Amino acid sequence: VTTATTSFDAALRAALADAVRAPSAHNTQPWRFVIDGRTVHLRADRTRALPVNDPHDRELTMSCGALLATLELAAPGQGLRAATTLLPDPADPDLLASVHLEDDRGSRDPAGAGGPRAAIAQRHTYRGHFAGEPVPDDLRSRLDASVAPFGIRLVAIDGDEAREDLAAAVAVADRTQFGDPSWRRELAMWTHPDRRDDGMPLPRGSDLGTRLAPSAPGEPVEMEDPDPSLVIDAPLVLVLATEGDRARDWLDAGRALQHLLLTAAAVGVQASYLNQACQVPAARHGVRYLVGGAHHPQAILRLGVPAREIRRTRRRPLDEVVGSG
Ligand SMILES: Cc1cc2nc3c(=O)[nH]c(=O)nc-3n(C[C@H](O)[C@H](O)[C@H](O)COP(=O)(O)O)c2cc1C
Repeated sequence: VTTATTSFDAALRAALADAVRAPSAHNTQPWRFVIDGRTVHLRADRTRALPVNDPHDRELTMSCGALLATLELAAPGQGLRAATTLLPDPADPDLLASVHLEDDRGSRDPAGAGGPRAAIAQRHTYRGHFAGEPVPDDLRSRLDASVAPFGIRLVAIDGDEAREDLAAAVAVADRTQFGDPSWRRELAMWTHPDRRDDGMPLPRGSDLGTRLAPSAPGEPVEMEDPDPSLVIDAPLVLVLATEGDRARDWLDAGRALQHLLLTAAAVGVQASYLNQACQVPAARHGVRYLVGGAHHPQAILRLGVPAREIRRTRRRPLDEVVGSG
């Protein structure tokens, strides 16, 4: 093993370790890397799909898009230049992308060390009420710029009426989901306390545990609607939407999502998801109308400055995610 190979392998591992910090639906981490020389193949791991929440693997593919964006951002920090081909093999739809990496130590760009790349470890989902602080004035234009390369339509939901409409769509979607025993069962599997390196912790003091406990057949679920002030009072509410609604669009939406999240995290702003309203078809239709009718909503975020520190979610060890040949 030459020194050049060893240092390439070390740089690649460091970049992959950063990449798996990406967000994923229910923290399922539905991805696998297959390394073939200097190419990393990113494969969808559909054994980690959420058939009730996400029957078409739309969010699964977006999660892999977020991972891909993180790898592309992390690589130059390790002196690697990345060239990505999306969906390279029509006969193999699980192969979402192939990323060819070249040594590029000469142009290792320390400038890139700030901003989105440095925020990879800082970004986290924040589901509580935000602090009263406003977000920076130029945040909106920075976020617009961060998604521009991906052909995404980014729409801000401003004004009381639009926020109330969205809060209502989220409440309807939430009721639909929690009213579906299969959906509840699926979420319960991914918030089970016996999970170690994936899934989500139950927030302390949350009533989610009771809401998710298996019910007897036909037994109704007691629950309250989500607090509408979470939507109405958020400093910024954004919808990411795409022209098409297929794997390629979902990959781009996931890449755009992660660029947006990291651009926000770099200035101390974190996000929470209102994706119920993209997951339930009737609600998604309503949101589509809210964003002008022509685009497909893929993610809905509220953004602000967290009111407190929270514990980070876990990731599977890299060796479980990386294979060869
Ligand atoms: C495509 C996608 C959809 C998501 N949907 C939701 C959602 O509907 N509700 C939610 O609370 N979090 C949602 N999340 C956030 C994940 O639960 C979160 O990323 C994961 O638990 C890992 O935690 P972290 O973001 O703090 O690293 C979503 C994330 C992705 C990438």
